[in-house]
Amino acid sequence: MSSTSKKYTVLDLFCGCGGLSKGYEMAGYNILLGVDFNKPALETYQKNHKGSKALYADLSDDNAFSEIDDAINGQKIDVIIGGPPCQGFSLTGRRQFDDSRNKLYLAMIEAVRRYKPKAFMIENVPGMAALYNGEVKDEIMKRFTDMGYTMNNKIVCAADYGVPQIRKRLVFIGIKDGAEKYEFPEPYLKPEEYVTCEQAIGDLPSLEKTLGNDISEYEQAPLTEYQKLMRGDCNVLYNHKAIDHKQFVKDTIAQVPDGGNWKDLPKGVGESRNFHMAWTRYCSTKPSRTIDTGHRNNFHYKYNRCPTVRESARLQSFPDDFVFLGNKGQQDKQVGNAVPCLLGKAIALQLLKYLNDGE
Ligand SMILES: C[S@@+](CC[C@H](N)C(=O)[O-])C[C@H]1O[C@@H](n2cnc3c(N)ncnc32)[C@H](O)[C@@H]1O
Repeated sequence: MSSTSKKYTVLDLFCGCGGLSKGYEMAGYNILLGVDFNKPALETYQKNHKGSKALYADLSDDNAFSEIDDAINGQKIDVIIGGPPCQGFSLTGRRQFDDSRNKLYLAMIEAVRRYKPKAFMIENVPGMAALYNGEVKDEIMKRFTDMGYTMNNKIVCAADYGVPQIRKRLVFIGIKDGAEKYEFPEPYLKPEEYVTCEQAIGDLPSLEKTLGNDISEYEQAPLTEYQKLMRGDCNVLYNHKAIDHKQFVKDTIAQVPDGGNWKDLPKGVGESRNFHMAWTRYCSTKPSRTIDTGHRNNFHYKYNRCPTVRESARLQSFPDDFVFLGNKGQQDKQVGNAVPCLLGKAIALQLLKYLNDGE
């Protein structure tokens, strides 16, 4: 952000642990408030976003906005960001977008109507674009256009912006008052330049010397630019604790090569899990596949175990000083649900051009 520009204020709805907020913060924005109804995720949010408030509220409840009003306390909101879950999304009858099952999307619309930000961003799974033959996407574009926002949307890939992960997301951006349409940032990297799994996590210890409280030690210096970037000034290793798998799991995964899966196993081995994602090892020379919320089907490219929370966080471009709270399952969920910080940062940096122009 240039010295002449101000810090734009942000409201993050469905904030989770705050991957998207972190990306906006890295781009120089001032995150005022994150809202969610998952307690462990909010605790993580509060710990890692020191200047922001974390509000527990159910956004499907009409009263949520009076709580948000109280928390904001009259401050101007420049940008609203959020990723409402679209499970159960429904268009019934003649384009019944106002169906109560769509309440979480309607909360996003209500927030924009209420706070009239200069811009907003909505993030969702790419499948949303094709839902009801594209009618849902078209309706979202129309609703916000009717509210005076110039809209654009695109399916973006996190790996294009330096995230060591093939993760695609549908992103909508609206800019207020007939301003020009937001153009998504050009990819920073070509596919052959993508950050690989090994470049992302190859410096992290295989077996952890746990000192308690999820804190352990780095055992070597960072080996790549990405590892240096993620470590920053951090000199202790948080959330890097391995799962103690059953012996049959260790023995089975030991037979899968780097980048392989259940199809590489000898006949009769590991057959209880033979769906297409089972027994998959990350490939050391490629970005990871999309990080999930801890289903235990993905394994380290070299070690005979699932990735630790820290390894998954690295693959989501969370800096190492971002600490996850809650139990292991809750931490995996927070990491897997997040917008990769560097993807959020790239979109947010590009957005500054439009906000600055609008001053
Ligand atoms: C995809 S995650 C958001 C991830 C977040 N943007 C990030 O980058 O870390 C969706 C979040 O919506 C929250 N959520 C779902 N239904 C909600 C509701 N009715 N009220 C508030 N939050 C809700 C979930 O708890 C979850 O944290």
